[in-house]
Amino acid sequence: MTLRIVAGTANQALARAVAAGLYTEPVSSVVERFPDSELRPVVDGVRGADVYLVQPTGPPVNEHVMELLLLLDGCRRAGAARITAVVPYFGYARQDRRGRAGEAIGMRVVADALASAGAQRLVVVDPHTVALEAVCAVPVEMLTAVPVLAGALAERARGDAIVVAPDLGAVKLAERYAALLSLPVALVRKTRLTGTSVVAGKLVGDVVGRQAIVVDDMISTGGTIEAAVELLLEDGAAPPVVVAATHGLFVEAAAKRLGGSRIQSLLVTDSLPQDASSALPLQICSTAPLLADAIARLHRDEPLGDLLIHT
Ligand code: R5P
Repeated sequence: MTLRIVAGTANQALARAVAAGLYTEPVSSVVERFPDSELRPVVDGVRGADVYLVQPTGPPVNEHVMELLLLLDGCRRAGAARITAVVPYFGYARQDRRGRAGEAIGMRVVADALASAGAQRLVVVDPHTVALEAVCAVPVEMLTAVPVLAGALAERARGDAIVVAPDLGAVKLAERYAALLSLPVALVRKTRLTGTSVVAGKLVGDVVGRQAIVVDDMISTGGTIEAAVELLLEDGAAPPVVVAATHGLFVEAAAKRLGGSRIQSLLVTDSLPQDASSALPLQICSTAPLLADAIARLHRDEPLGDLLIHT
């Protein structure tokens, strides 16, 4: 079976870099748009192929999810032999439970829709929750960019550094960074008030005089990181703080919240397209080698072992 990369429009630079890592190019695909805004993707050259469709579902999330569904259907109808949806950032993963009666579980809905549109397997990078695997009807390969980011952090970490989880949900992630960097862990207790506003209540751990390295799976409005950085500095951490997150969405006021001199470096991956002219102190670590390695192994039916999240 021939390996083929299909690039959605959500991150074509990443799809091209992944294809280059596999000594190929994305096959020809176009996403036309009707005047009423309906999408109409067309894919060529996938008949009989082992297809890897690269499309992170970052903002505008609904557009990118819909395009992914249509591209999956296009690949299936064009005769692809096997279709893997490569969704480095999986949108809707934060909707993994009902916070109140009547609320939808968006993650489940999207997972079902991908399988029903033709995805036979899903590849994601550091999803918000590993519960994604349990709700998906098809196999999910959960890759991790933590070793890549930790490698870049190692160049910045001082001997007195401490890894900080900005909320309870990030503790396991912080422990993975801490193990790779041989550093201790602290935790911020966060309460989310609304989608854009959070309060960092209490710090668990001793950060006085230490360099704080705050880690999270994603940065959206920047509220979580801003609140954690404020609390850390109030509680005596040595400024400036270093921040690392796999997925940089940077929506709404994120640039304003995370600008200034309190954050020395903001490390994110290229799972989503990043603005090279951003005023933020961004350092982008590429996930292309990780994704290319995973795809090469899947194509050869080899285990992914060290590329996966081990919880
Ligand atoms: C939430 O639990 C996530 O891990 C992130 O902490 C959160 O989604 C980041 O969102 P924001 O940047 O809007 O605070």
